[in-house]
Amino acid sequence: MTSATALSESVEHVIRSRRATRAFLPDEVPDDTMRAVFALANRAPSNSNTQPWHVEVVSGAARDRLADALVAAHAAGAQSVDFPYREGLFTGALATRRAEFGAQLYGTLGIAREATDLLEGYNTESLRFYGAPHVAMLFAPAQTEARIAADMGIYAQTLLLAMTAYGIASCPQALLSFYADTVRTELGVTGRKLLMGISFGYADESARVNTLRVPRAELAETTRFRR
Ligand SMILES: Cc1cc2nc3c(=O)[nH]c(=O)nc-3n(C[C@H](O)[C@H](O)[C@H](O)COP(=O)(O)O)c2cc1C
Repeated sequence: MTSATALSESVEHVIRSRRATRAFLPDEVPDDTMRAVFALANRAPSNSNTQPWHVEVVSGAARDRLADALVAAHAAGAQSVDFPYREGLFTGALATRRAEFGAQLYGTLGIAREATDLLEGYNTESLRFYGAPHVAMLFAPAQTEARIAADMGIYAQTLLLAMTAYGIASCPQALLSFYADTVRTELGVTGRKLLMGISFGYADESARVNTLRVPRAELAETTRFRR
């Protein structure tokens, strides 16, 4: 029988209450809270303590310029991807879960799959960070391979949980990494690869999209216990 402690209850609450938020209020996160959260994220473990992440946190006028540049790049079809994505990347159970997630998301949004104009509008909203006042761009070293990408992922989840603990809502967005050159140019970053952006701020609790609750596979589907 597992016995819950104050610590386990807090951590469980943080892990279970984190979710991808897709509509934000314009209110900014105070500077000291932001620094506390990113300092906490820096405690993430990594191979040989290499800490491969480089993070650009973008707010205010710079955030607005970046959003405009992303929307313009999207309109011009100017995609540039550091970590290539291809159709067919997800197969088997992963493809099934991805399709289920798509149906859940678009169902919550009330968008039919064929309603391309609404989808396009939704894409533009994504490129504007779903209205979040801040975005953190997660850059990896130029020579990133799978083991370094794993460290980056651990950093990302540590950051997301730290944000949750401080009442900050977030959405990791691979979409933003499809405009890597635009992001690098806007932020003056060179010699690094863009893995993802994380939009963050305070959730707009009145937005329908934020009512989405995404399930997970049964434990037995993903995890086997042996002795
Ligand atoms: C690496 C990564 C990239 C993601 N990219 C996007 C994205 O581009 N757009 C988006 O709306 N959500 C994105 N998500 C959010 C996922 O859809 C979401 O985490 C997943 O459906 C589980 O839902 P939950 O986070 O609410 O539990 C991404 C999540 C991760 C971890």
